[in-house]
Amino acid sequence: MDRILGIGNATVDIVHSLPEYPAENDEVRCDSRVVSRGGNAANTLVVLAGLGYRCSWAGMLSDDAEGRFVQQDLASNGVDTRYGHVSPRGAMPVSTVILSAATGSRTIVHYRDLPEYDLAEFGGIALDTFDWLHFEGRNTAALAVMLEQVRSRYPAMPVSLEVEKPREGIEDLFGQADVLLFSRDYARHHGYDEPGALLRDISASHAAADMFCTWGAAGAVARDRAGIEYSQSAVAAGPVVDTLGAGDVFNAGVISGYLRGNGIPGILRRACTLAGRKCMQHGLTGLTGED
Ligand code: FRU
Repeated sequence: MDRILGIGNATVDIVHSLPEYPAENDEVRCDSRVVSRGGNAANTLVVLAGLGYRCSWAGMLSDDAEGRFVQQDLASNGVDTRYGHVSPRGAMPVSTVILSAATGSRTIVHYRDLPEYDLAEFGGIALDTFDWLHFEGRNTAALAVMLEQVRSRYPAMPVSLEVEKPREGIEDLFGQADVLLFSRDYARHHGYDEPGALLRDISASHAAADMFCTWGAAGAVARDRAGIEYSQSAVAAGPVVDTLGAGDVFNAGVISGYLRGNGIPGILRRACTLAGRKCMQHGLTGLTGED
């Protein structure tokens, strides 16, 4: 089975489920409060491990009970954590999440006080033992060097880059990836109100990558290296209950689609199907890629 390395965040998520989103200055009770491990790269890997891939995570852990909770959760989901780096200072990133049962929306307040995963740690990874590298687009200065190293040492290694949040310097990384995974937030931040236009503009300067952009209930769009655009409507066979991590699941669907040798339409359908299934359930357990 293919081996995948994901480089990025793992977090502690404190998820409060409410019947509906509260108003500012309200005092409300939640129906449930669940503490779980989150983080974009970590979520993507947990789904890929559930699909049967051999996954390793590279990122930062705090040297405390929360760091150990995250490490153990990844391990118990079948994700290898040997490249997790325990920082002597800082705390785990924590997301306080409000999940609205009325819409399935997830509002995230994120706290971060942990050094970013850096080049020194990355240099120790045996990259040649992997078939796919997935990078979460953050800490862009260090990521630029990591991507250059990958490109010069392993030119044939497939690389995906998640571009979820607008970050300074992230556009400079686009030329180093084979697959670019954009979010609606990123597109909107840059003034786009639909995904196709973003991909059209990005492909004008980075034609060597396949690219995808998710758009919530409107599905997702892809554009391949030949400039052909594909779209897929959202796949939801029931009510949306929890959208937390849906984009991370979409990314897992894309990566697994490539590794299965699917073409772009099949990859897009698979990713939307997995993300749709995720929105209809709480958490990430038991997601399968079968149609
Ligand atoms: C979902 C998620 C959460 C995490 C937050 C970090 O996509 O990865 O699990 O707390 O985003 O931005």
